[in-house]
Amino acid sequence: MSQITNLAATREQLLIAARAAAQIAYAPYSGFHVGAALLLSDGRIVTGANVENASYGLALCAETVAVAKILSEGRRGGLEAVAVTGGAPGAPGQATVTPCGRCRQVLNELAALGKTDPIIWCDGPDGGLELRLSELLPHAFGPSDLGLDQA
Ligand code: THU
Repeated sequence: MSQITNLAATREQLLIAARAAAQIAYAPYSGFHVGAALLLSDGRIVTGANVENASYGLALCAETVAVAKILSEGRRGGLEAVAVTGGAPGAPGQATVTPCGRCRQVLNELAALGKTDPIIWCDGPDGGLELRLSELLPHAFGPSDLGLDQA
């Protein structure tokens, strides 16, 4: 059963959670604070923020951090919706942020395990963007390509 009964209310709830997560991002090098909020089919909202490193290339994106939290707790699948926001500290949503290519693939892993095609809300001016993961990552490579049985 989907958790989403009121699309606008769910969007607002996830964006608020993503903006709160962005506030605690560790992004001293880029100064670009990203927050992600993932809604699961049991109603849980799991957030992530970007985590940078003095070795710049080791930065972890907000979406990837959130997916890692979920998978490392043993949860598989059930990804219904995602909100992403980013920008200067304290000013999320000033520009529209879509998940980077790597994050699209990472989100796809969790989504594919439960055969969902989550809504992706990208915060931004004029309402941002609303897309399905399949629109952001068409013809995705996923668990089934390696013979992994899905729910
Ligand atoms: N970033 C994310 O957290 N998610 C994305 O989808 C795009 C980029 C982070 C990585 C880095 O810490 C900062 O934004 C600037 O690229």
